[in-house]
Parts: sequence; C-alpha cells; structure tokens
Amino acid sequence: MSSMSSEKTQKTTHGIGISYLFQFMPKYAGLIVTSMFFLILATVASSLQPVWLKKIIDQIAGGTTLQGLSALLITYFGLKAFEALFEFIRDVSFAPAEMGIWRSISERLFSHMISLPVSYHNEQRVGGTSRKVSRGGRAVSFILDFLISNILPTIFSIIFVTVVLFRLYAPIYAVITFLTVAAYTAFTLYATDKRQKYRLAANEADDEVSAIEVDSIGNIDTIKYFNNEPFQLQRYLPVINKRYNLSVASNNLFALISGVQGIILLVGMGTILYLGILQNLRGELTIGDLVLLTTYVTQLASPVAVLGFIYRQIKDGLADLDGMAKIMAEEVTIKEPEHPVHIEDPKGAVEFSNVSFKYATGRQVLKNVSLSVKPGEKVAFVGPSGVGKSTIVKLMFRLYEVTDGAILIDGVPLADISKESRRDIFAIVPQEPVLFNATISENIRFGKPDATDAEVEAAAKLANAHNFIAALEKKYETTVGERGVKLSGGEKQRVAIARAIIKDPRILIFDEATSALDSHSEEIIQESLQRVSKGRTTIAIAHRLSTIADSDVIYVLKDGKIAEQGTHNLLLAKGGIYSEMWRIQAEQREAEEVLEALPED
Ligand SMILES: Nc1ncnc2c1ncn2[C@@H]1O[C@H](COP(=O)(O)OP(=O)(O)OP(=O)(O)O)[C@@H](O)[C@H]1O
Ligand SMILES: [Mg+2]
Repeated sequence: MSSMSSEKTQKTTHGIGISYLFQFMPKYAGLIVTSMFFLILATVASSLQPVWLKKIIDQIAGGTTLQGLSALLITYFGLKAFEALFEFIRDVSFAPAEMGIWRSISERLFSHMISLPVSYHNEQRVGGTSRKVSRGGRAVSFILDFLISNILPTIFSIIFVTVVLFRLYAPIYAVITFLTVAAYTAFTLYATDKRQKYRLAANEADDEVSAIEVDSIGNIDTIKYFNNEPFQLQRYLPVINKRYNLSVASNNLFALISGVQGIILLVGMGTILYLGILQNLRGELTIGDLVLLTTYVTQLASPVAVLGFIYRQIKDGLADLDGMAKIMAEEVTIKEPEHPVHIEDPKGAVEFSNVSFKYATGRQVLKNVSLSVKPGEKVAFVGPSGVGKSTIVKLMFRLYEVTDGAILIDGVPLADISKESRRDIFAIVPQEPVLFNATISENIRFGKPDATDAEVEAAAKLANAHNFIAALEKKYETTVGERGVKLSGGEKQRVAIARAIIKDPRILIFDEATSALDSHSEEIIQESLQRVSKGRTTIAIAHRLSTIADSDVIYVLKDGKIAEQGTHNLLLAKGGIYSEMWRIQAEQREAEEVLEALPED
C-alpha cells in the first residue's frame, strides 16, 4: 500500500500548487502593487549609484575641488538614502500581503482537511497529513517572500543594468551580461528540474518518518506493554535510511549544480573585466568606467548566484505545496445539502428506510434495515460484536453515507438537513470516547460552547462526574492529556456523557456509554441517563442487556438485518436470540451477586 501511495506522490500537480497561490492575491492587490512599485524604485536607485560613483571618480582623476564634487556627492548619497527608504516601504507593504495569503491558505486548508470525511482520514497516516500541511504553509510564505525580496529585484536590476551598459558602452558588454545571465538561468532551470524528483521522494520519505514517530508516540503504552522498543526501532531504521540516501543524493547533485553555475558566472564576468581592462589600457575607457563595470559585475553576480539558490528553494517549496494541493484536491465526498432543510422545532423521530451499507474497503454491514422510532421513545440495539451497531450510529451522524435507502429525521432525509439542525438534534456518547488535550471544562463545553460554568457543573453532576472532578487538584481546570490519557476509562466516559447531555439534544445516542464503569457507578449513571432521556428520543447500544431492558423497543441485529424486535418481555417470551443472550447474562449476574453478597475481608 505504501508503494502505491508513493507512486501517486511522484505525479506532481504543480499547476494546482501555483494557481493556489495566485487565487489568493487579488484580495491583496493594492499592497502587492504598492510593494512592486517601490521595489522598482529601489532597484533603479541602487542601479544608478555606480553611474554617479563613476562620475565622482572621473572628476577626482581629472583634478577637481570639493566644491565641484558636492552636487555629485549629494546625488550619490541621496540615491543610497532613497534606496533604503524605498526598500523599507516595499517591506512594510509586502509583509501583510505575504502573511495574509499564508493565513487565508492555512484557513482554507484546515477547514478543508476537517471537512474531509472520516473515510478519507482513516486511510491517511496522521503524522503524514499534518506534516504536509505545515510544510505547505511554510512553502507559501517562503515562495512569496523570495519572489518579492529576491527574484523580482534581481530581474529588474539585470534589465536595468543591461540597458545602462547598452547606452553607455560598446554593445558587447550588454550582450555578454545578457548571455551570461541567460546561460546561467537556462542551466539552473534544467538542472533544478532534474533534482526535483529527489525532493519529492525525500518528502515522501519524510512523511513516512513522521508517520512512524507519531504512531509510536500514540501507541507508547502498547510498545511498553509488549516491551517492543527494539522492534519499533527496526521499523523506523529503514525509513530514516531511505530519507538519508535521498538527502545525500539530492545534496551531491546540488553541489554539482552550484559548481557549474559558478563557472558560468566566472566566464561571463571575467570576459567583461578583461575587455574593460583592455579598453582602459587603450585609453578608450576611464578609470571611472572601469569602476562602473566592476561594480555592476559584482552587483549582478551575487544576486544572480542567489537567484540560482532561490530557484532551487522555490522548486522545493513547490514540491511542498504539491502535498498541500493534493489535500485540497481531495473531494469532500459527503457534501452538505445544496438547499439545507432547517428543522425549526425538531421532534426526534428517526426512520430507517431500507438502509443498506457497505464500507468502501469492507464487507456489506447492513442489509435493507427498516425501522422507525417515535419521538421520545427509548430504543436499543443489541447483537454480537462486529454486527454493525456502531456503524448504524455513524450513519446517523453522516460520518458515512448510506449505500442504499435513507435515514429520515422527522420525515426529512438526513442528507437534506442543515448542519446546524443536525448539531441541535443529535448528541452522542461514543463507544471509545476520545477527549481533546484541554481542560475538563473545555471538553464538556465542546458540547455547548457558550455554556456557563454552572451548566458545565450541572452536566457533570448528571453524568456522575462531578465528584471525581471536584477531588482533582485543579478541578474543572485539569488538563486531560492527549486524547484524554490522564483520566481512567470510566472517568473519560463520564466526561463524554456530560459533554453529550450539556447539549440538551432531541436525540441522545449512547454507544456502550457505561461499559467502562463498575456496576455501582453504572447504576448511578443509568439512573441519571433515565432522567436526562425523559422527553427525548434515546438510542442505546449495550452488551449488558440489563441496562437496556426497560427500552420501548429492542432491536436484535444479526447478519446485517434486524432479527428480532420488541420489548424485553416480548422478546423473552419469544424464546429467540435475545432470550438466549439474556439467559447467559442472567447466570453471570447471579454469580456476581453471590460474590458481592460475600462478607468483605
Ligand atoms: N472504517 C471501517 N472500514 C471498514 N470496515 C469497518 C470500518 N469500521 C467498522 N468496520 C467493520 O464493520 C463491521 C461492523 O462494525 P461496528 O463497529 O459497527 O460493530 P459493532 O456492532 O459496533 O461491534 P462492537 O459490539 O464490537 O462495538 C465490523 O465487521 C467491522 O470490522
Ligand atoms: Mg460498536
């Protein structure tokens, strides 16, 4: 699978990369034009200085008074001062444009990334995606910055210097300058393109490195439980070796390119100097002229040399942008409706009409499931592990789209309901609740961002979480660690319950909400769940049947279908799957009760 994805990355999409930059520019057109204008002024001021320097030197050589020089000196230093001023204005007007574009792109990218369906993210390596995003963001400001502070000024000064040389001296100087720059540029473009494939491959390797790092940190407990540090290192080594080889190859090529570039510059600039000296010796050029030519030669040589470096950097940047553009090109397959229906006063009726579902990479999970839950009803799904209970819940939240049939809420197809309505209608306590690395109060508030502290506490009390939170040193301001690792399984579950009930939704869904709790805590929570589920539709999934026995309807799933449905008593009387499950669990319960009845000690 990894070889497939690396092949995919080799195909570049630079077109997308660059056009992505351009589409954000119009908003900053004023600032960009201003900075370009001052950029040109600064270049002119800087390129004119050698001309005045030549005049000053020729005057001195011809014997003059300080008085006679003063106008020239004032102009010369005036040009220097203006150059500095223009540069300053250029900088100040460009920074907000550059960072503004970066901000817009980051915002769009992040928003796109979190809009992409779960099915996309499940296929990605977390470390890889986040590194692509940050590399892309860096590349954006990088490219823009170099464009405006290096490339354009260099191009302008090349043009300007060529024109000045052409007007003041024999055409041969302008021609040589032009040819040198042309040869240099052509070679740089050619060579850098050759080197590009190493950079793309190095990026790919870099993503792999990061993916293993992030995956290892995320699974650090598992690594320790199995004492598998050496094994994990063995997985890491080949990947960093690959990265090493690619980087070394890329750098060697880089050094070679730099060498050839140096030679081209040397030949061109050397020729100009040689001709200048010859002409001077023949008395055709003054010392001032020689100084002018030398200054231009050095003034051009360094930015042109830098230009080569920058071109390579920009190509690298474009390769980085490529990864980002790929994420942007990824389609949001689960789209928000074009004409979203807003459900004003949701009742909480749920209907499954011939729902079938298959994971893109998996088997058919649901086959023609039809059911209907009335507002305020309490229903439960039970059935063996892997039968598709959590999948049903994911479909209700549109984490995945049904393959066939429809889910309707208050008679409206789920796919037509506005995001806002869906947000108001549903809340869930997921099977494996994961918390943000933030405080407990922030995590609970995720269910209702504008909740007051009192509401947060009330929700925590309902979820039987308040007591354990109050016993913590920082109480509600305790941070829970990455994904909530600093809380016990049951504590995490109770925070997740508080997060769901603070929403006050029409439809509450519990996917094994109390599975991590001891029977005593479970009883307490069961009781509060009963309280909060009053007047709402409640859908509960549970393995422990005692927790859902009071449901209005219990659906027993088997082989992707509803095998049995009805109340607890009805299903028991029927003597089918449910009654068999109940019998087994009842035996276990009896055994537990006997144990619990034993005197302590
Ligand atoms: N993202 C996925 N891609 C492919 N297959 C999946 C995916 N998620 C779940 N499945 C498969 O779908 C089936 C149903 O999974 P689901 O999580 O709905 O089961 P469940 O009834 O909730 O089980 P449990 O009681 O163990 O929680 C399983 O066979 C599972 O392997
Ligand atoms: Mg499940």
